[in-house]
Amino acid sequence: MPALVAPSILSADFTDLNGAISMVNKSEADWFHLDVMDGVFVPNISFGFPVIKAIAGKAKKPLDVHLMIVNPDKYVEEFKKAGASILSVHIEACTHLHRTIQNIKHLGMKAGVAINPHTPVSLLEDIITNIDMVCLMSVNPGFGGQKFIEHTFNKVLRLKELIMETSSKAKIEVDGGVDLDNALPLIRAGADVLVAGNTVFTSPNPSETIKFLKDPL
Ligand code: DX5
Ligand code: ZN
Repeated sequence: MPALVAPSILSADFTDLNGAISMVNKSEADWFHLDVMDGVFVPNISFGFPVIKAIAGKAKKPLDVHLMIVNPDKYVEEFKKAGASILSVHIEACTHLHRTIQNIKHLGMKAGVAINPHTPVSLLEDIITNIDMVCLMSVNPGFGGQKFIEHTFNKVLRLKELIMETSSKAKIEVDGGVDLDNALPLIRAGADVLVAGNTVFTSPNPSETIKFLKDPL
């Protein structure tokens, strides 16, 4: 089954966001992946509400918003208003994760939980049936264009087992360092959604690259 592909706008040319948005709109991509960084949870600052609202105004596909911020609860409603369809928060940033997930769902968004490379999949045991997606970080969050951490394959397999055991409907999203070589093994291991920034936006033909990532056979 083909994967869902979510190009990460972080790697787009910010002087031509319009071009990036229309490329994604016309391509076989499924979602826009938007990385929000606060300079506290991660050592980088990306973009916030004005940019997300501008993208939402032109995007013809759902916005998959990945929050790399402390205190995400404070802003959940604002992200809904800005146009997010799927909102992922980091397990490492949430003291009351269950409540945060309830808030996200109550506002009519799909709820995702992102986990850093060092965070074990087992920490999701008691939340997996409440969420729509797990965003497995395959790099340390903060920057596009980093090298894929191979151990992620073990985590995809373990997460798939957990999802099957609990009959959870959660999708597995892999985020960071996804490229033309690891896309197929990731899908075979159980990944449902591939995020790709650098691989898409440095490609001479981004829509062909998206097409390949969806079904890399
Ligand atoms: C990393 C972000 C990723 C990143 C992916 O902190 O969460 O979404 O933009 O970019 P690539 O595909 O270039 O690793
Ligand atoms: Zn991301």
